[in-house]
Amino acid sequence: MVVVRCLELFSGIGGFACAIPENFQVAAALDIDQDCQAVYQANFSHPCHCVSLESVAADELAEVQADLWWMSPPCQPFTRRGNQRDLADSRSQAFLNLVDCFRTVRPTFLALENVPPFAESDAADLLRNTLRQLGYHWLEGTLCPTQLGIANRRQRFYLLASRDQPFPQLTFRPVSCNAWVRRVADVLEPSAESLPGLVLSHETVRQYQCAMHTVDANDTNAVMACFTSAYGRSPVRSGSYLRTGSEVRRFSPTEIAAMLGFSTDFQFPNSLSLRRQWSLVGNSLSVDVVRYVLSHLAVADSLAT
Ligand SMILES: C[S@@+](CC[C@H](N)C(=O)[O-])C[C@H]1O[C@@H](n2cnc3c(N)ncnc32)[C@H](O)[C@@H]1O
Repeated sequence: MVVVRCLELFSGIGGFACAIPENFQVAAALDIDQDCQAVYQANFSHPCHCVSLESVAADELAEVQADLWWMSPPCQPFTRRGNQRDLADSRSQAFLNLVDCFRTVRPTFLALENVPPFAESDAADLLRNTLRQLGYHWLEGTLCPTQLGIANRRQRFYLLASRDQPFPQLTFRPVSCNAWVRRVADVLEPSAESLPGLVLSHETVRQYQCAMHTVDANDTNAVMACFTSAYGRSPVRSGSYLRTGSEVRRFSPTEIAAMLGFSTDFQFPNSLSLRRQWSLVGNSLSVDVVRYVLSHLAVADSLAT
C-alpha cells in the first residue's frame, strides 16, 4: 500500500484529517489559531503546530516531506461580506507565501478548498499560472454535499493538482445520488435538548422568523443551509435552526460537525465557549466532499464515494 504523507495547511479543526483514506497520513497540521490547535489536539494524535503561514519558510515546509499539501485559506478576501479584495486583502498574505513555497518545494500533489467566488479571483489565476509553469495537471470545480446525498448545502470550489500524472478529465466526476444518505434526523443528539444556549427566545424567533431558515426533523427532505462562523452570533444567513414542537433551537456544534461528516466521537474541549465552537465548525469543511475530491487520485485506496 502506498502511504501518502500530507501537510494540512490552515488546518482549523481538522476537516481534512477526518476525510483522508486509510493510506494517507497527516504528517503535520499548521494553523495560526490556538483554539483550533486545542480542538485539533483533542481529536488527533499527529502534530498540530501554531504557525503563521504568512512567514513560514519553504525549507520548513520541505522538512515535513509531505507528498500532498492541503490548503483551506481564509475565504473572506473572496466573499461579498469580506469586500472581495482578493490578493490585496492582508488575509491573502499567507496564501501568497504558500504559492512561493510551493514553487520551491513542488510536492507531488496539491489540493485547495475555498468559496465559489475564489474560482474567478486573481488568487485562483495565480495558482493556475503557477501550476501551468511547473507542469502540473489539475482538476477543479464547485461541489456541494447535497450532490452526495448529504442534506446540507455547502457549495465550495475545489482544486486537485498532480505533478506527475494527468487526470482523465478536467473536472470532478459527476455524481448521481438519488437518495439522502444523511438527513437532519440522523445528526440530532438527544442531549442537545438540554444544552444551555441552544433554544432561542420567543422574542428572537418573533423578530427574525421571516428571515431565519428553520428545518423540521420529521421532514425527510429538509436540507440544512450552509453553516458559517457567524452561527450563534447572527440569526440570519449563518445556518439553519431546528423546530421542535413550539420551540426553535440552534444545532449544537457536534450536530453540525456530524452533518459535515466528522465522526460522532469528535469533540470540542469544554474550555471553549459554545460561540467559539460554532465559529470554528462554521469555518470548517464538508468531510464527505473532500473525501470525494481525494478519490480522484489514483493513490487513494478504499475511499467511499
Ligand atoms: C477556512 S478556515 C480552514 C478550516 C479547516 N479546513 C477546518 O477543517 O476547520 C481557515 C483557517 O486558516 C487559519 N489562518 C488564517 N490565517 C492564517 C495564517 N496567517 N497562518 C496560519 N493559519 C491561518 C484560521 O485560523 C482558520 O482556521
